[in-house]
Amino acid sequence: MAEKELNQILFIGEKMVPVQPGQTILEASLAAGIPHYHACGGKAQCSTCRVLVTEGAENLSEPNVREKLAQSRIKFPNEVRLACQTQVIGQPVKLHRIIRDETDRCLYINDASGEDMLQAIGEEKKLTLFFLDIRDFTPFMQAHLPFDVIHIMRRLFRIFSNAITSHQGRIIETAGDGLYAVFGLETSLRNAVQAAVNAGNQIFRDLEVFNQTYLQHYFNYYLQVGIGLHVGRVILGNIGIGVNNNLSVMGFPVNVAARLQNATKELNNNFVISAKAFQLLKNQPQETICTNINLKGVKEAFAVYLIGQPFRKPATLEANILAAE
Ligand code: FES
Repeated sequence: MAEKELNQILFIGEKMVPVQPGQTILEASLAAGIPHYHACGGKAQCSTCRVLVTEGAENLSEPNVREKLAQSRIKFPNEVRLACQTQVIGQPVKLHRIIRDETDRCLYINDASGEDMLQAIGEEKKLTLFFLDIRDFTPFMQAHLPFDVIHIMRRLFRIFSNAITSHQGRIIETAGDGLYAVFGLETSLRNAVQAAVNAGNQIFRDLEVFNQTYLQHYFNYYLQVGIGLHVGRVILGNIGIGVNNNLSVMGFPVNVAARLQNATKELNNNFVISAKAFQLLKNQPQETICTNINLKGVKEAFAVYLIGQPFRKPATLEANILAAE
C-alpha cells in the first residue's frame, strides 16, 4: 500500500520542510535544520517562534488555549501563529519566520519586560482619524519668550490629550502646533466616530475656558483650533523608532483626514468631517452644512459636513495678533 505523502511547509526564502504526523511547525523546522528561535522551549510564553502565514491559514490547526492566551496578551494579528503550538493539517502552507536574526529579535521582543511591544506587527484596521491644528500660533510664538511658548503649548496639549484619551483615543503624532490621533483601536468604528466627535467638542469647550480664564487674562491672546475627521482602513504597526516605540498609522485615509483639517480654513468652520464618518454617527448634530470640496489626490468632489463653528472674526483676531506683536 502506498505511503501517505507527508505535508510540507514552504518557509519563504529558506526551504521546503516536510512535516511528520503530530509535529508542530517548530519541531518540523528545527528537524529540517532551520535555526528557528524558540526562547521558551515551545511553551507559548516567549513568542520568538512566531511565523507569518501568507498562504494556507486554513490548513493549520486552530489556535489552542495557550496560543489564544499569548494572542490576547501580545495582540498579534490572525495571520501570525506560534510555530510551537501549530500543526499542519493540509496543503499548501506558505509562511516565513518573523524573527530571523538578533536584530529582528531586538525589534520584536522587549528584553526589559520580557513582553512584546503592543501591536509590534503590522495589521490593517478601520479607524477614525483625527487631525487637529492650532490656528495663529506663529504670531504668539514670535511675540513671546521660549519659556512662555512651551508653557502654553504644554497647557494646550494637556487639554487635547485629556479629551482624546478620556474618549479612548490615542495620539499618534504631534508635529509643531498640531497633532494626529486615532480612535477605534479597542472599539467598533461606529463607537469610535462618535467618541472622536465628542472628544473634539470637549476640546472646543475646554479651550474656550482656557482662553477666557488664562490666555486672554495673562497673554492678551485668543487661540483656536481646526479639526478634520475621516474614517478608513489603515495600516498600523510599531516601527520601533521614537519615544516609547510609538504606534504608526499609515494609509490614504490618513492623508484625507489631514486635508480635511486643512480645509477648515477655506470652509471657515472649525470642525470638518467626511460624509462617510458623518453617516456613522449615532448622534448626528442637527444643524450642519453638507458641502462638496476638491481634495488633492481625490478625483471626484468629496462630500463633507461642517459640524463646528465659524472661526472667530478676523477683526478680533487681528487685534490679538497686533497685541502679540
Ligand atoms: S517557542 Fe516560545 S512561544 Fe513558541
